[in-house]
Amino acid sequence: MERVPTGIEGFDELIENGLPKEGVILVAGSPGAGKTTLAAQFLYEGATKHAEKGIYVCFAETKESLIRNLLRFGWDFGELERKGRLYILDLSTTKEPGIQSNLNLILDKINDIGAKRLVIDSFTAFSMALSESSDIRFLIHLLYRFLQRIGCTTIMISDTPWGSQRIGSGVEEFIADGIILLQTRFDEDGNLRRTLSIIKMRTTNHSKKTHEYDITEKGIQILKRNPKDKT
Ligand SMILES: Nc1ncnc2c1ncn2[C@@H]1O[C@H](COP(=O)(O)OP(=O)(O)OP(=O)(O)O)[C@@H](O)[C@H]1O
Ligand SMILES: [Mg+2]
Repeated sequence: MERVPTGIEGFDELIENGLPKEGVILVAGSPGAGKTTLAAQFLYEGATKHAEKGIYVCFAETKESLIRNLLRFGWDFGELERKGRLYILDLSTTKEPGIQSNLNLILDKINDIGAKRLVIDSFTAFSMALSESSDIRFLIHLLYRFLQRIGCTTIMISDTPWGSQRIGSGVEEFIADGIILLQTRFDEDGNLRRTLSIIKMRTTNHSKKTHEYDITEKGIQILKRNPKDKT
């Protein structure tokens, strides 16, 4: 099984040096957990170190705000886009919630630039227009077949509300090749602590531990300390 490095400090070694090539990985977490940062870091690594072009599809945030936020980490997505190494597909203002037309837009862009890495931020926002659970299941299966054909390693973000025990809508969790869960909590001293766990990663002898991580000016970084340790 070929691996796709994420470049996230301390993370690749937890999953046998990278995500399974052409797999679909669900990154789930509550607001502000770092889902966008993790996904962007994965695209940045591909575009700058592995000559793998990437596409960032944003449904919840505009392209301008994404570019601005990522500049804080020194990742110039605007510049990389100008160089043709990645593309940000802004579907945040699409009025027509047509699934098929959105998938066609993504597919055209993947073929256009020959992308190898794809981020969908977020599946939750993408599926927002659908109220019937049968429609959501339809979208997931459509998306899954689509993702299997395109030959990209994909990070699909799932927004989970605070305190929720659920990760996705109940279907995409089974379809995904991997699930990475990002959680935040306040410890007894009132400090924000962040933990990452790998719930599943097909074809991978992955870490079974809960790992503490931090978001710094370099992006996401897995810490060596134990989540139970005092800060
Ligand atoms: N330069 C920075 N240094 C340290 N921490 C930062 C920096 N920039 C952002 N953060 C942290 O990252 C968090 C936001 O991360 P990110 O946008 O990746 O989260 P998210 O899970 O995508 O959030 P949302 O659910 O709102 O989309 C902020 O709340 C802040 O705690
Ligand atoms: Mg986000």
